[in-house]
Amino acid sequence: MSFLINAFSQPSRAGNAWFCAGVVASYPDIEDDARLGEQRLCQGKYSPGCRIFHVPREDSSKAAEIAIDEWKDADAGNAKDQVMVFKYKGKFVAVNHECPHSSYPLSNGMPFDIEDFGITLSSGITCPKHEWSFDMHTGMSDRGSYKLQVWEVQIRLRAAESGAEEEVWIRRKQRIG
Ligand code: FES
Repeated sequence: MSFLINAFSQPSRAGNAWFCAGVVASYPDIEDDARLGEQRLCQGKYSPGCRIFHVPREDSSKAAEIAIDEWKDADAGNAKDQVMVFKYKGKFVAVNHECPHSSYPLSNGMPFDIEDFGITLSSGITCPKHEWSFDMHTGMSDRGSYKLQVWEVQIRLRAAESGAEEEVWIRRKQRIG
């Protein structure tokens, strides 16, 4: 679903503010089961399969992209506040960058289809550190009660000089109650 936005509208506040994670066309559509952070061809050039953003809890609208290899650097912010954004088989996904088991970076994880009797039910990520898997849409783990945090995603249309452009917008999921 796309939304037409007014570029001058006020953003929402604090840790649950939406932020723009770039234009849709800049993300490769991952169709393989290689490492998410692997470079893939997109619009005639190679780009990482996923992008990482540090999203401050006190004001998410100040989110900043960080290079995948620099996720641990001091100026990359708290790794617990990093979100990983990617497109898998036509759908955008945003989840915590850290594995909820033991904090391994999931940009090293591998995507896969969750199937039952040949029918695709959902999609998952396998963390290579201890090979636990997580549903990338619900966050559910194949072991215990560990859950990967899933973020909200919207595709918005922004008016640009060259015509409307689709952007990916992300925010922390709201806690209800
Ligand atoms: S750190 Fe990811 S499965 Fe253990």
